[in-house]
Amino acid sequence: MIIALTGFMGVGKTTISEKLAKLILCKHYDLDKYIEERENMSVSDIFAKRGELYFRRMETFALREIVLRNEGDIVVLSLGGGALISPENQEIVKKYTYCIYLKASLSTIITRLRRAKKNRPILNEISENGEEARFKELFEAREEGYNNSASFILDVDNKSIRQIVDEIIAVI
Ligand code: S3P
Repeated sequence: MIIALTGFMGVGKTTISEKLAKLILCKHYDLDKYIEERENMSVSDIFAKRGELYFRRMETFALREIVLRNEGDIVVLSLGGGALISPENQEIVKKYTYCIYLKASLSTIITRLRRAKKNRPILNEISENGEEARFKELFEAREEGYNNSASFILDVDNKSIRQIVDEIIAVI
């Protein structure tokens, strides 16, 4: 089983995936890191030098490669917050993974992202006073993809990482 974790930027996908993989003793893939290693460039640099469209193509390519290479194995895969905008990626995730949507409220997301804007190219150009509206717009544009691909939706507001990991273990 490939356990995929999805959700908006800042919900803790990478941290939770790493903890989960450690606890259930399996391999962990992070889609962004996989792309960075393949391209030998940070996600920010890929956006800056090659553009978002190129990054999105790499997401589909990397996603397909990871799921096909790990079919039949138990692995945890954390997806980037924009990976499920693409209907093609949604289909891959639905077909090959048990996908958990780590769902946070917009206010939790806003609080977290204010602290962690740095390495997120999508957020680079947002000015302080336009922040809330832009986060809301991005969140709403991505939510359908999360809902559409998820086998299970897990509320993460006000929960510790350990609590979230335990709840995941209980449903997989
Ligand atoms: C993106 C989210 C990022 C990363 C890239 C684009 C997005 O992943 O894939 O910066 O479009 O929402 P995280 O959700 O891990 O920050």
